[in-house]
Amino acid sequence: MTYTKIVGTGRYLPERILTNFDLEKMVDTTDEWIRTRTGVERRHVVAAEQTTSDMCVEAAKIAIDDAGIKVTDIDMVLVGTTSPDLIFPNCATLVQHRLGIPACPAIGMEAACTSFIYALTTADKFIKAGEAKCALVIGAECISKLVDWTDRNTCVLFGDGAGAVIVRPSEEPGIVATHLGADGQYKDLLYYPVGASKDLHKAGTDQASIMMTGNEVFKVAVKTLGNVATEVLAKAGIHQDELDWLVPHQANIRIIQATAKRLDLPLEKVILTVQDHGNTSAASVPMALDVGRRDGRIKPGQLVLMEAFGGGFTWGSVLLRM
Ligand code: ACO
Repeated sequence: MTYTKIVGTGRYLPERILTNFDLEKMVDTTDEWIRTRTGVERRHVVAAEQTTSDMCVEAAKIAIDDAGIKVTDIDMVLVGTTSPDLIFPNCATLVQHRLGIPACPAIGMEAACTSFIYALTTADKFIKAGEAKCALVIGAECISKLVDWTDRNTCVLFGDGAGAVIVRPSEEPGIVATHLGADGQYKDLLYYPVGASKDLHKAGTDQASIMMTGNEVFKVAVKTLGNVATEVLAKAGIHQDELDWLVPHQANIRIIQATAKRLDLPLEKVILTVQDHGNTSAASVPMALDVGRRDGRIKPGQLVLMEAFGGGFTWGSVLLRM
């Protein structure tokens, strides 16, 4: 049986760090409110001229180096993002060109915070079908450019970054199960009001920003993420006690705690980056995976559950042996 194995990881965070104390000077908030309600202490924010593909390229270079492969080995590129540089060409083609990757499928995936999980699941299917031998999969986000920095309800939550993985076929596990879902009935609880075919050229749309009914999102996220985690474990026939690590989407420490509790996992077995990165949407899971691998916590052979939830709503999980 062929499995999809992660053989390299990398991350990029922009240089500029914005702390909760910096935000206290920008909106009516406090470090204490942000920390206790969300777990966020600081976040990285791109420079004005920096784009999502700029961050993707940096994260990808590190993942390629980590995997010990050449760019010419890569035969598929997937970029999960909700903040691409352009409407088209998609971000994956920009990354492919900038890294010198030979002609191959280059796919942009948009599922808000779940974009990376959707992208990795797609790569897994291509690898298992024998259609790809070496895929570069990225989750990246310039979410700071979609935020209204005068709206305390949203601006305190988000940050920018990119996380990348290289996946290859392997006889050893590997990704053992995946689960994806979406329910568009919740579209009005979390959305960005302007797009290619809606109001793009309307006066004042440069003022558009993320719209979120935070407490409603919170409730559905907690319920859904618990189910997402247990469903993927059931699919693989694996008991939750066997899990070594939970690598969750880093939206809010309270949502993460609720998911860990549902799995009976102590927080020591959860990779947490929300305090340092904020909610980086599609980038949060691959960056957290990279953090856990590089500081030596996540070891080869260990069982890891990655999960995410985002606008749509969309959700998904990937269960894998490192
Ligand atoms: N500082 C101080 N007070 C604030 C702030 C702030 N930054 N933001 C809101 N408040 C106030 C509100 O105005 C409200 O005041 P009121 O009681 O006088 O009306 C009070 O705090 C409570 O507001 P709630 O929204 O009920 O606070 P809650 O405890 O729900 O926390 C939060 C808000 C952190 C947004 C939480 O609801 C959350 O994390 N939601 C989920 C976000 C998420 O998971 N998003 C999904 C992924 S994102 C994506 O897909 C792009």
